[in-house]
Amino acid sequence: MKVRSIASVKNLFGKRVLLRVDFNVPMKNGRVKEKYKIEKSLPTIKYLLHHDAKVILVSHLGRPKGADKKLSLKPVEKVLAKILGKKVGLVELKNAAQKIAKMADGSVILLENIRFIKGEDKNDAKLAKSLAELADIFVLDGFAVAHRDVASVSGVAKHLPSYAGLLLAEEVKGLNQVLLKPKKPFVVILGGAKMETKIPLIKKLLPQATNILVGGGIVNTCLWAKGYKVGRSIIEKEHKKTALAFLKNKKIIMPVDVVVGSADGQGVRVVPVDAKFKVKDAKFGIYDIGPKTISLFAKYIKKANTLVWNGAMGMFEQHPYQFGSRSVARLMATRAKGRAYGVTGGGETVELVKKLKLLDEIDLVSTGGGAMLEFLSGQRLPGVQAVSK
Ligand code: 3PG
Repeated sequence: MKVRSIASVKNLFGKRVLLRVDFNVPMKNGRVKEKYKIEKSLPTIKYLLHHDAKVILVSHLGRPKGADKKLSLKPVEKVLAKILGKKVGLVELKNAAQKIAKMADGSVILLENIRFIKGEDKNDAKLAKSLAELADIFVLDGFAVAHRDVASVSGVAKHLPSYAGLLLAEEVKGLNQVLLKPKKPFVVILGGAKMETKIPLIKKLLPQATNILVGGGIVNTCLWAKGYKVGRSIIEKEHKKTALAFLKNKKIIMPVDVVVGSADGQGVRVVPVDAKFKVKDAKFGIYDIGPKTISLFAKYIKKANTLVWNGAMGMFEQHPYQFGSRSVARLMATRAKGRAYGVTGGGETVELVKKLKLLDEIDLVSTGGGAMLEFLSGQRLPGVQAVSK
């Protein structure tokens, strides 16, 4: 699937461009904690400004039920104005038309959190139309929200000439490369707390993948399904059958040892995954992959020509459960951008990769969490559809 890029539009001079971005960034104490998503949309914003368009940014933040001061985009507007070195201004939808009429060419405004407006989530036709009336062109840049069938993504696109921003185009191209022509060996690394979100992805990628290395919640459920005691590890009982099927599949590589301890990092020890496996203390759980597993995974990663990684190997935010995820990030970064084509993404993975200063070492660090998973699972994303050729 190829997208219509904004770069193909000849004349943007003075045009009102409604630019749907995903500024749903992590916040802490009313401040932006992580700017990655804002930074990734800068090329499109700057491109439009450079071509003297009037840029009307639309985004959501969090999952508010109606207007909620705590989820205002004001802190995001401040960060954006600082990065751009230019006035932005936060505008409520009800005042937008008036404000836009006075906008100079090559200027930018940000609409207040679109999820404050009833009808956004339900893809209300009236809201979509009133958004469309504000602009001449619609551009979707926020890949991370492209899986949502909502008024400001797929709804508005029905009423305006619609294009992909530079970020969306880059992400779709990168993910397509993995889906359509992965160079073998193709190694997928999957973790994260929830097994459920990874099942469609595993099923879709299994025929193509050389191996799938698993950590995180999937491992807990698999071990529990096999009859082992897993203490207070998070498990998903409803996926027992799938877990047993995964265990039988030779392409799926399970950990050979795991790190067991308390949720706050006490009583930690490495336990081999063998016939005698057991989390003895009911208060303990499995919170990381072990050192032997890291060595085993390294063997696969070092031979790969295509690498996809999504989801932490354990509870990496709690010491000492960070080693598995950090090792995977470093191994991935060593192999990607060069010998292998490497893709990763999702909120917590991006956070970790950024912390380790490895962002530039991986070919594509997707801004999409759910969107990346759905795209790679072969699902059609409403937002991508709306700007496709
Ligand atoms: C994300 O952070 O994955 C996107 O912004 C989508 O957010 P949502 O899951 O609340 O729709």
